[in-house]
Amino acid sequence: MSVLQDPQLEQRLAALHAKSDRQLETLKQYRAERTEHPNTSESDEAARTKSFLSDKLVALDRDKAEFCYQLLRVTGARRAVEIGTSYGVSTLYLAAALRDNIRAAGGSALVIGTEYESEKATAARNEFAKAGLSGFIQLLEGDLRETLKTLEGPIDFMLVDIWTPMARPALELVAPCLRHGAIVVCDNTESYRSAYADYFAFINDPANGFRTMTLPFRGGLELSVHDPKA
Ligand SMILES: C[S@@+](CC[C@H](N)C(=O)[O-])C[C@H]1O[C@@H](n2cnc3c(N)ncnc32)[C@H](O)[C@@H]1O
Repeated sequence: MSVLQDPQLEQRLAALHAKSDRQLETLKQYRAERTEHPNTSESDEAARTKSFLSDKLVALDRDKAEFCYQLLRVTGARRAVEIGTSYGVSTLYLAAALRDNIRAAGGSALVIGTEYESEKATAARNEFAKAGLSGFIQLLEGDLRETLKTLEGPIDFMLVDIWTPMARPALELVAPCLRHGAIVVCDNTESYRSAYADYFAFINDPANGFRTMTLPFRGGLELSVHDPKA
């Protein structure tokens, strides 16, 4: 049993993780093939990759998702933002944590997800309903550079699990809403260090008020705490 201690949800998550794992091999082959034979036009290459990824889960690894659940529980989080929802795997972990926080202490809670592929958004909403967690999730559908403009604080927790060029724009939009002490988790910061250069430039700028460390999960998992000077 996982930290969720919810056999029905864990069964559904196991099926989603298994589907994501099966797609990883295709993903690796695609990346190798595109590196060898890239399109001469950058925009054609980007469109091709977007289309290829449009039905891929690319779900957060189980241990990282369970770790996020634990972080939300230990901090008693009420409002979380998820950058990159896909079919909703990590969203389900976050929503389960908020549900369990409320069970323990009352009140209300919300995960705000972001997804621009409409078929993925529809599939994710179905998963939320099946899990009985829809009431804890608001999915912002569309490009996050637009949808996050109306985000309201305070935000206790942010998960960044998205294509690397979107990480910094997302953080810039969410940062003004982060409460003092909020946690920001970002995936694969070790394996994609150079692709995250602009994200790290933002995180490491003292004016933005973050304390950060890379945790030794597979590919690296960045744990940053928002601690701005008054
Ligand atoms: C790594 S996947 C997220 C996986 C998800 N967190 C999970 O555990 O299942 C990243 C997702 O971000 C979405 N995405 C990429 N760029 C986006 C953008 N500009 N706005 C909104 N969603 C975006 C992709 O369609 C993809 O589904």
